[in-house]
Amino acid sequence: MTIYLDNAATSHPKPPKVYETLASCLQVAGANPGRAGHKMARLAQQIIENTRFKLTKLISASSLEQIIFTFNATDALNMAIKGILEPGDHVITSYLEHNSVLRPLQNLAQKQITLTLIKPSAEGLISPKDIEKAIRPETKLIAITGASNVLGTLQPIEEIGDIAHQNNKLFLVDASQVLGVIPIDVEQMHIDLLAGSGHKALMGPPGTGFLYTSLKNPIKNWREGGTGGDSLSPLQPTNLPHQLEAGTHNFLGIAGLETALDFIEEKTIKKIKEQELFLLENLIAKLKEIPEVTLYGTFDLTKRVGVQSLSLKGYSSDEVATILDEHFDIAVRGGLHCAPLLHQALGTVPNGLVRVSLGAFNTLEDIEAFIFAIKEIIS
Ligand code: ALA
Repeated sequence: MTIYLDNAATSHPKPPKVYETLASCLQVAGANPGRAGHKMARLAQQIIENTRFKLTKLISASSLEQIIFTFNATDALNMAIKGILEPGDHVITSYLEHNSVLRPLQNLAQKQITLTLIKPSAEGLISPKDIEKAIRPETKLIAITGASNVLGTLQPIEEIGDIAHQNNKLFLVDASQVLGVIPIDVEQMHIDLLAGSGHKALMGPPGTGFLYTSLKNPIKNWREGGTGGDSLSPLQPTNLPHQLEAGTHNFLGIAGLETALDFIEEKTIKKIKEQELFLLENLIAKLKEIPEVTLYGTFDLTKRVGVQSLSLKGYSSDEVATILDEHFDIAVRGGLHCAPLLHQALGTVPNGLVRVSLGAFNTLEDIEAFIFAIKEIIS
């Protein structure tokens, strides 16, 4: 069986009950949620609203309509970025960001907005002071990742949120790599907008994600169409979540996400995090003993999620990833991880890095198998 160490891309396996939900849900409740009054449609709608409730709870949001279902975190980030920025706005973001933040911002920056990119420290941490110094009167948005998808470094979200709040700026967090492993409280952290992936550490199926928005910040319509109500209105309804949720939901995916959220609640984020950090510590300790390996990111585990990137002397990252896959049946991600600015800053273009990313179902045996494989490649 494949040793799966690519959970930052998407988690695998999913909790067993997620597969059961996926197998049964279309048969039992496979109607269009919210589009009719019959029992199956009501049941489908109920599943959507239960999941919305569980996401609200997960991030300590104050009301259900603050959660907008999207098809992934990229969808949510595009919705937020393109939905709030106007010509003349200034945005602060960082070198750590994924292309799902960088590309929409860089596109807008070609003619409409201005952009300041904050460099992380050598260990991959953004300084809140650097963010504060970059604020201008025309700054509308501060957009920062919760944790780097390459280095696994947790960013000081609460401090940055405080700065955003004190300066009356909007704060957008790409929570793709933190939801499910780090507790998030959007109010305490002063987060105005948060993009979440349903299929990474939340362990739901692909095609699921959400945007959290605090209600005081209206977002431009993203897609317009049927919402199951207000059919006579010639325009998109203005009330959330319907304003931003036109069209049929990925109901099957959302049902799977609900089951995954139940698993997380039962296991607890605290335990999932402890287990991932225990494995990470073990992985780092063993990799440090191998002279041909260079490790990236901070070794302070209080500032980490279960992601470790490395290079192996004499090999490109893609070569290592391919050998691991073909000869050892170990799945990792090589390359640039859709985070080009960070790789440029690290000096790891074009060879990239080998990224090991842990999930809730990894074990010490997986780490041992990976270390064995790396030693074999070297020898
Ligand atoms: N963003 C995902 C990753 O980091 C796909 O691999």
